[in-house]
Amino acid sequence: MDLLDLTDQHILITGGCGAIGRVVIRELAEHGATVSVNDVLPKTQAQQILADAEISSSHVFYYQADVTQPEEVARLWQQVEKQSGAPTIVCCHAGITDAYPIQNYPLESFDALFKVNVRSAFLVAQYASQRWIEGKAAGHLLFTSSWVQDVPWPEITPYTATKAGLKALMRGFARELAPYGIRANAIAPGIVAVGLAKQQWDTDPGYRQRAEKAIPLAYLQPPETIAHTFLFLCSRMASYMTGSVMLVDGGCSLYPMDDSQES
Ligand SMILES: NC(=O)c1ccc[n+]([C@@H]2O[C@H](COP(=O)([O-])OP(=O)(O)OC[C@H]3O[C@@H](n4cnc5c(N)ncnc54)[C@H](O)[C@@H]3O)[C@@H](O)[C@H]2O)c1
Repeated sequence: MDLLDLTDQHILITGGCGAIGRVVIRELAEHGATVSVNDVLPKTQAQQILADAEISSSHVFYYQADVTQPEEVARLWQQVEKQSGAPTIVCCHAGITDAYPIQNYPLESFDALFKVNVRSAFLVAQYASQRWIEGKAAGHLLFTSSWVQDVPWPEITPYTATKAGLKALMRGFARELAPYGIRANAIAPGIVAVGLAKQQWDTDPGYRQRAEKAIPLAYLQPPETIAHTFLFLCSRMASYMTGSVMLVDGGCSLYPMDDSQES
């Protein structure tokens, strides 16, 4: 028996067209899952991103929706269910970030962070749980947190608070919905080699020096390592896990260290 075979799983992932999401989708699809991909991006743009990421499975479908809005979450679920049936696993993965010193942190950014990172995860997980309870299905919720859920980090304090909130949400869903057979877990990545972090790592020696110091393993996290963690959590190998955070961060959370703290 292939313990990592996902052919009987239908996985819905929000924010799936992002830098990490597309690598996760490819991994899950390669292991046989049907993957329903959600993002706010228009369909043509999303499909181009998925094609560029070499996601060619005939079992990957895209759905545009802003998951901060309850009516869009309901519409998303209906469309997904019509195409592929109800998802068996739902990944609340959409997230945004913004960096400012605390004293200048704009309230609009603070609100936007909580809206996307926490409210959308709650809405999607709540909607999925309602449908699973109705259908007597034992679904699985996955939340994408971050190592900073437990570690303060300069200039992203509201973001760290959203991820701490997400961890609390995950544990609450796991505890309250266990009697229905619904499980909930989280993945907490480190500093991932995508977007701005990768660009700065490649071009700015100062940033690279600081990042090497902040990451005990001393290199940025390959997104594939996150995809492998999703694969494990979506597989039957993780079937007894609920209420857990899988920290996959190269050791970032072992000690809070930045360039202002010389040893
Ligand atoms: N990049 C990192 O270093 C890192 C580290 C730890 C955790 N994470 C988390 O991983 C997740 C993905 O991060 P990423 O680096 O791939 O970011 P990204 O910006 O590349 O991807 C996020 C995606 O979410 C989508 N999105 C935003 N708002 C949405 C909404 N309202 N509805 C639907 N989709 C929406 C965006 O369009 C984008 O495609 C986030 O939750 C992030 O907090 C990232």
